[in-house]
Amino acid sequence: MKMSFLVHISTLPHTLLLLFLLVIHHHKANAASDQCDLFTGRWVVDKSYPLYDPAACPFIEREFSCQKNGRRDLDYTEYRWQPLSCNLLRFNGQDFLERFRGKSIMFVGDSLSRNQWQSLTCMLHVAAPYAKYNLTRQEDLSIFTFTDYGVKVMLDRNVYLVDVVREKIGRVLKLDSIEGGKLWKNIDMLIFNTWHWWNRRGPSQPWDYIQVGRQIMKDMDRMVAFETALATWAGWVDSNIDPAKTRVFFQGISPSHYNGSLWNEPSAKSCVGQKQPLLGSRYPGGLPPAVGVLKGALSKITTPVILLDVTLLSLLRKDGHPSIYGLGGPTGMDCSHWCLAGVPDTWNHILYNLIL
Ligand SMILES: *[C@@H]1O[C@H](CO)[C@@H](O)[C@H](O)[C@H]1NC(C)=O
Ligand SMILES: *[C@@H]1O[C@H](CO)[C@@H](O)[C@H](O)[C@H]1NC(C)=O
Repeated sequence: MKMSFLVHISTLPHTLLLLFLLVIHHHKANAASDQCDLFTGRWVVDKSYPLYDPAACPFIEREFSCQKNGRRDLDYTEYRWQPLSCNLLRFNGQDFLERFRGKSIMFVGDSLSRNQWQSLTCMLHVAAPYAKYNLTRQEDLSIFTFTDYGVKVMLDRNVYLVDVVREKIGRVLKLDSIEGGKLWKNIDMLIFNTWHWWNRRGPSQPWDYIQVGRQIMKDMDRMVAFETALATWAGWVDSNIDPAKTRVFFQGISPSHYNGSLWNEPSAKSCVGQKQPLLGSRYPGGLPPAVGVLKGALSKITTPVILLDVTLLSLLRKDGHPSIYGLGGPTGMDCSHWCLAGVPDTWNHILYNLIL
């Protein structure tokens, strides 16, 4: 209505001026991430979603390819995150690539980092489908290069951030050693993450001893171990990062959904069959305790590090996991990772809004 009125009575210059003012206003209201908490909000249906068709992203790994693995319900792909008091600017992959021309981005962490890394490479690839790319993997380092732009989007798989060293006694998790940081120097944007491996026990625990200073132990309180490692990482950031050159983010704690009591559905023993998110902004089960530990560690750091605080918004997405459509197939039950297209696209969408 407004527009037809405007076009009807205005001369062309007036119209342009008004449009210009609208654009300015729109931009101000949207890019207000300084004043607006982008992580408080709710999920709303948006039929223009998902941001990409996963079939148009040929390099997605099988563990995130839910549709290819047989998932038929697609409502979960049509939710947009709506912050409470402002709007996210729509993701613009072309603009993202231009901003990072000749630069490098590195995700460092476990498979949740791989999840977000794959999401970003897909979001950028669909934005520039004819731009050449080169994907290589050497041991723990995966490098996705948009060769036409000279943009590198990398993944360093490093599940604890601190080191695991093979010694005579066995594999030692060293909470105050961070030699792995050698790979993180001279990168333009770093996005760290660690959490999911801190509670591993038994055969899937990739260390035999844990060391702090000169003390070597068979085990210790895992939350304290996590906190100690984060302090080591914070020290590394403070002594190695030049904030004028490098932006640093922490991916935050990505939650799992294996206990329906936490979302008021006690009969659910996993995320299988979940087709809708929780509506509203509250998760009945509250935040995992690791979030508090992480926030405490970040508060002690001097270098600017932005927490990509994805926990609550992801907690609301009990419908977003692969469940039986992941790497393990019907016998696996993956309620930790996320389908792509899906929730990690929103993490990247918010990341984009934070660097504008
Ligand atoms: C892809 O990247 C690798 C590692 O950087 C390099 O050795 C290789 O030549 C590249 N391939 C192409 C086609 O550019
Ligand atoms: C699920 O969560 C509820 C509520 O916190 C708790 O009482 C219960 O022990 C949990 N169940 C499992 C299997 O962890």
